[in-house]
Amino acid sequence: MVTGWGIALPDKIVTNEDLSARLDTSDAWITERTGIKERRIGGSTSQLAIDAGAKALERAGLTGTDIDLLVLATATPDALVPGTSATVQDALEVAGGAFDVNAACSGFVYALVAAHGMVLAGAKRILVIGSETLSRITDWNDRSIAVLVGDGAGAVVLEATDGPGQLLSWDLGANGSLRHLLCCDHGGYLYMNGREIFRHAVHAVVDSSTKALERAGLSVEQVDLFVPHQANARIISAASQRLGIPAERCVITIDRYGNTSSASIPLALVDALETGRLEPGGIVLLSGFGGGMTWASAVLRWGG
Ligand code: ACO
Repeated sequence: MVTGWGIALPDKIVTNEDLSARLDTSDAWITERTGIKERRIGGSTSQLAIDAGAKALERAGLTGTDIDLLVLATATPDALVPGTSATVQDALEVAGGAFDVNAACSGFVYALVAAHGMVLAGAKRILVIGSETLSRITDWNDRSIAVLVGDGAGAVVLEATDGPGQLLSWDLGANGSLRHLLCCDHGGYLYMNGREIFRHAVHAVVDSSTKALERAGLSVEQVDLFVPHQANARIISAASQRLGIPAERCVITIDRYGNTSSASIPLALVDALETGRLEPGGIVLLSGFGGGMTWASAVLRWGG
């Protein structure tokens, strides 16, 4: 079950007005097309991960030496080699192994499912982090990308317990023939075909969420909290409507954080926890999609 959680955000807030002052865009366009009002920019992927991970450990009443395994989801590692998880392992003094996962914006759910598998294989405590600095691979003169991205990190501690908290089911998918829709070469900037991604994203979230719920033997009415990847408020609203999940059961943080890739789902989950939107025993549906394309959903029963 999840026994600890934490987030980290850069201090610097960049508003739509800030971007409109230097790019041919406007608060009205960004708000209407994406739902974003502001985003946090700055820091490094490792430092954000360390800060979020430290908070999650503290909340769980643990230290790094209690942790068997660290799984870091990121598409914006500090370096190609070593994995950014090595820096985080060192700073948090994690006793066990550490590795990175890159499944773009689906990365956190991929990491969570992999960690769950490791718990079933005998690991006792795993730290799962999603951390990104998309700002570092963004061309700040390209309005089509610059208005979308943000930096941040979110972390959870997974513990093998006999309690009620469980990962009930999951669905992971990929279609590499669509990899040209969202990509970034070594040393280059992020490229995205927004319209095509939008079209595939709604379908991927609905299909993957439906499969995960079916595998858990649950209906959509039983979902207490839907935590989707925060790429665009219109994608979230289209997917929620098609799934039949009302807005009050859906978490939205994109207005404050923009698209933080693999950090977006843990940032949204922690936001829901800290605003009292999740009770013990509640059913949580996580669903992400991103470059690859990849998609990933997981159904959890919250342990409290
Ligand atoms: N400000 C003002 N105008 C803009 C901006 C901007 N920032 N960006 C594009 N435009 C213009 C375009 O040039 C276009 O003008 P035209 O009609 O004269 O050609 C017009 O706005 C409409 O552009 P579209 O691309 O059709 O706008 P759309 O409604 O599709 O919104 C968006 C674009 C927000 C990118 C949307 O397609 C989207 O959210 N797609 C999915 C993004 C996503 O989910 N990505 C996945 C992960 S992203 C990641 O990993 C970083």
